[in-house]
Amino acid sequence: MKEVKIETTLSVYEDFTELPNEIQNLMNSAIEARDNAYAPYSKFNVGAAILLDNGEVVIGSNQENACYPSGLCAERTAIYYTGAKYPQAKILKMAITASSQNQITDQPIPPCGACRQAIAEYEIKQDSSIEIYFMGAKGKVVKSQSLANLLPLLFESSVL
Ligand code: THU
Repeated sequence: MKEVKIETTLSVYEDFTELPNEIQNLMNSAIEARDNAYAPYSKFNVGAAILLDNGEVVIGSNQENACYPSGLCAERTAIYYTGAKYPQAKILKMAITASSQNQITDQPIPPCGACRQAIAEYEIKQDSSIEIYFMGAKGKVVKSQSLANLLPLLFESSVL
């Protein structure tokens, strides 16, 4: 038996204003999407914005349903629409922000496991990294240079 250690590297910005301008713009699109989320059940609004290599920005927000599992996260709403509308484009960056309607969300909110697996699919498909930035409603912003850094041991199609 041997132990395997898995390490990851993330960058932490103290505040939104520390981000490069291009990422601030992308995060602003995510904030706008977040504020239009349909989250009457969880009261937890999430917004995502994706920058493509053709210059387009695609946004998504979480869409909930009275039948809870039928809802969808912001990240997957955005990335599946991207796949549908711009199947040839490369995804360069994704900004994510979340804000509870009940309390101030002042810590970075990472994408859930299912969204990480979904984003990983596109990173593998396009054979280039997707930069991920995530934050709450205020405070620190975390950057991951690629989705792979957020999801060690991901499930890959090569085993099918
Ligand atoms: N949610 C997202 O949109 N993205 C995530 O990565 C985590 C959770 C949404 C799903 C649900 O509408 C609400 O947040 C509470 O889980």
